[in-house]
Amino acid sequence: MSQTKVFSFASGNDISQALSEFVAQASSEAIARSGRFTVAFSGGSLPATVCRFLVDNGDVDFAKWHVFWADERCVKLDDSESNFALVKSELLDPLTQAGRGIPADQVVHISEALVHDSAAAAADYQSRMEQVFADAAHAGSFPAFDCVLLGIGPDGHTCSLFPGHPLLEETTKWVASIDDSPKPPPRRITLTLPVVNHAARVAFVATGAGKRDMLKRIIESKDADLPAARVAPASGSVYWFLDSAAAQDLSAS
Ligand code: 6PG
Repeated sequence: MSQTKVFSFASGNDISQALSEFVAQASSEAIARSGRFTVAFSGGSLPATVCRFLVDNGDVDFAKWHVFWADERCVKLDDSESNFALVKSELLDPLTQAGRGIPADQVVHISEALVHDSAAAAADYQSRMEQVFADAAHAGSFPAFDCVLLGIGPDGHTCSLFPGHPLLEETTKWVASIDDSPKPPPRRITLTLPVVNHAARVAFVATGAGKRDMLKRIIESKDADLPAARVAPASGSVYWFLDSAAAQDLSAS
């Protein structure tokens, strides 16, 4: 049964500091246990918030990281809409410049050659994920990420899993495509709900008063119409990193 912990911080800086420590601890625990750390990043505002202090965190053994994307837009890798590009500029490039780069074959991003065909891009992404999570692939199970980092949208979406979308009922695929995302751009690939719900840790990051009502519906009412409220890893934990504006209406904050 999954555990939920909600943390609220006075400023964006405080959230970034706490996330740096959270991810560093998740990384060292995973590396001590299995020799590697598997992490998936979302797009939007999340990479900048998570990575602000992480790059300079000397406790993190980035050489053992395997980096994935929780969802990705079907655009070129250098497009301003690319989630890969965000993580590249916030984490991958600064680490390389600091001489602590993550080996390129451990950074599993969408294939640029397939961005015109979201279904093919999703199938290709899953097959590369299966190489890293070979045991789960052989067992016909789902990969267990050490850490999945998620944002939420004003409609309660997370990853590219949108309210009312048939993709919410996916039960077998690890990665799926979507061609009708209500948030632009319309063509995307995304981890499926069963994969998110196999993670050891899911951390949601949400800031600003605009997300206040939605957070109450997700965290307190657990409104199953909202994809983010369906995130409950069977044997993992869910952590919420909020600023005080976002957390204001929560009864426990
Ligand atoms: C994307 C995202 C998406 C995002 C939320 C929150 O590619 O659009 O991965 O799920 O995380 O929409 O975005 P903000 O943090 O920018 O509000």
